[in-house]
Amino acid sequence: MATRNQPLPKTVLCNICSPDMQRTKPMTNEKQTTWDRLEMLVCPSCHARLSDCAQGLRCTTCNLIYTVTESIPRMVDESWLDEATSQEMVAQDEHFAGLPDKAVFKPDYHSRYQRRRMRRHLGDLLTDLKQDSTEPLSVHVACCGTGYEVEALLGAGWQVSASDLSVQALYGLSKRSATRGYQVPYLQADVLHLPFGDNSFDVAVAVEGLHHTPDPLKGFCELGRIARRRIAVIEPYSGGLLNALARLGLAHRPEYSGGQARRLTASLIEQMLSVGRLQGTTTRLYLDLPPGPVTDWFGDLPVIEPLLSGFTRLAQGMLRGIRVGNRVLLVADCK
Ligand SMILES: C[S@@+](CC[C@H](N)C(=O)[O-])C[C@H]1O[C@@H](n2cnc3c(N)ncnc32)[C@H](O)[C@@H]1O
Ligand SMILES: [Zn+2]
Repeated sequence: MATRNQPLPKTVLCNICSPDMQRTKPMTNEKQTTWDRLEMLVCPSCHARLSDCAQGLRCTTCNLIYTVTESIPRMVDESWLDEATSQEMVAQDEHFAGLPDKAVFKPDYHSRYQRRRMRRHLGDLLTDLKQDSTEPLSVHVACCGTGYEVEALLGAGWQVSASDLSVQALYGLSKRSATRGYQVPYLQADVLHLPFGDNSFDVAVAVEGLHHTPDPLKGFCELGRIARRRIAVIEPYSGGLLNALARLGLAHRPEYSGGQARRLTASLIEQMLSVGRLQGTTTRLYLDLPPGPVTDWFGDLPVIEPLLSGFTRLAQGMLRGIRVGNRVLLVADCK
């Protein structure tokens, strides 16, 4: 297992394989990696094809080598990773390191209130992603964490694959899936530079991940690039009133990773939906009580929780009309 804050493997040219071998060796999965179809991967930096080599996967154009460590293809490289993302990776690895069950089996450890709200959001996501084909459609879950939405999509009959920046989070996914008895292909990747060609999956999903990146708009475009049919995200949202409350410390809890949260705003959503080839969009706002010790305590009391949940739904219904909420579900179809 990687240790905490383990630095990224340095980019090196493979000095084991001869150039000829590197050029001609067909891609196989003889390394038995956690990603089943290595031949579908491309260089996340330049989108060129990869070839198999002794040290990992080598870009046939820019020659970067992506190592396969503990069977996980590490499709990130410090030569192109920006500073904010590198810091986020370290912070997320720290968060997920040691993998207490509370980090792995989300949402099981949350308060009753949070569990109910999360399941509701996920239920809406699944409804909006309804499959319109008899064959299972493919969905790639970026920023997958320990696999909360991966598991839900798998249960709903999708052909699921997953990626995350944090290897420690992927260990969690591995633990979660082994405990629950399923397998999905996964690898390490930055959602701003995904290692897949255009239109590789029917659908691309990210839940609570884009706001951790320095550029959620770029992340959204990247999801749109790899998806043939649809993109769906659920992210924190901030409107005028909530921004004001946040300034008083009443609306948003700081990010556990210590990074700066880039919550979606109406104007960012407008930009997301106006780039490129999208149509038929759903935008749904939610209002959840700001998390914190008090909400968590009350929200776990069997008698109080239904009252809080009922109140939240009522308030949400009233505030949606004036576009106030602190979560947003965004589903967009590709043209
Ligand atoms: C709040 S967690 C959400 C995890 C999961 N989607 C869920 O809802 O349980 C945010 C996740 O985004 C990942 N992440 C942060 N920045 C990322 C990036 N640039 N590319 C891919 N994943 C990233 C983190 O490692 C973390 O697993
Ligand atoms: Zn390359």
